[in-house]
Amino acid sequence: MNGGGQVVCVTGASGYIASWIVKLLLLRGYTVRATVQNPTDTAETEHLLALEGAKERLKLFKADLLEDCSFEQAIEGCDAVFHTASPVKFIVTDPQLWYPLSKTLAENVAWQFAKDNRMDMVVINPGFIIGPLLQPTLNFSVEIIVDIVKGKNPFNCRYYSFVDVRDVALAHVKALESPSANGRYIISGQSVTINHIKETMHELFPNLCIDDPNGEGEMEGINCKMCVDKVKNLGVEFTPLKSSLGDTIISLKEKYLL
Ligand SMILES: NC(=O)c1ccc[n+]([C@@H]2O[C@H](COP(=O)([O-])OP(=O)(O)OC[C@H]3O[C@@H](n4cnc5c(N)ncnc54)[C@H](OP(=O)(O)O)[C@@H]3O)[C@@H](O)[C@H]2O)c1
Repeated sequence: MNGGGQVVCVTGASGYIASWIVKLLLLRGYTVRATVQNPTDTAETEHLLALEGAKERLKLFKADLLEDCSFEQAIEGCDAVFHTASPVKFIVTDPQLWYPLSKTLAENVAWQFAKDNRMDMVVINPGFIIGPLLQPTLNFSVEIIVDIVKGKNPFNCRYYSFVDVRDVALAHVKALESPSANGRYIISGQSVTINHIKETMHELFPNLCIDDPNGEGEMEGINCKMCVDKVKNLGVEFTPLKSSLGDTIISLKEKYLL
């Protein structure tokens, strides 16, 4: 096992990506300190405590980003920290909270902190993440799929670049385990049109009722291609979009979220 003997912290562990990171880490033999906002809330913790290896090697810590020194106890003595805790809200009224800005500012501060404290840091920058949910509740990026099924398009985009949550989680773990890992890693799948997404879902689930009131007519259409060679060199292979979409829908149905 790769992680035998190593102790790592995952912040925001009940979240969509973090839950998969915790699962992978436990399977690879790591001891995991998982921070959650409310350890007594079973909706946040039950799926984590049920993971293979959790009984022996998972410990929950209460921590809130808005409280000074809240994470110190969880992080103290760890070999590495996976920092995923963050509010993920796109609809805001205060532009200083605007999500893309908050991500840029947070990353800049993190790079400065790592430099000042001579810490080794790697950043994973994903596209919209889909794939099966471990947590019982709907997170923002998977909600986009629910919206699309219901005939809404939250960003009025013609193109979306999705990536599978299992690939994103693996990229995080590989970034720790690869001594040469450094800098920033974009992990984002092919850019596809919203009609392509709907057609693929229809092909996979002919009985799924997909509302399509507007088509693509009024949507904004910037199609960009990102180089993902760097993350592939970490040993991450991309799950095909069709599989990700299929597994997302199955997971949503299993959890009665669709
Ligand atoms: N999903 C995507 O498509 C995507 C793409 C690119 C980047 N990201 C980034 O990846 C990270 C994880 O995203 P996700 O999709 O997994 O979102 P998520 O499911 O909403 O998870 C976010 C986690 O952060 C925690 N959190 C929020 N506010 C907190 C606070 N004040 N103190 C402590 N913890 C707090 C949440 O805890 P509670 O459950 O207790 O609120 C939750 O566990 C975020 O930094 C996000 O910006 C996500």
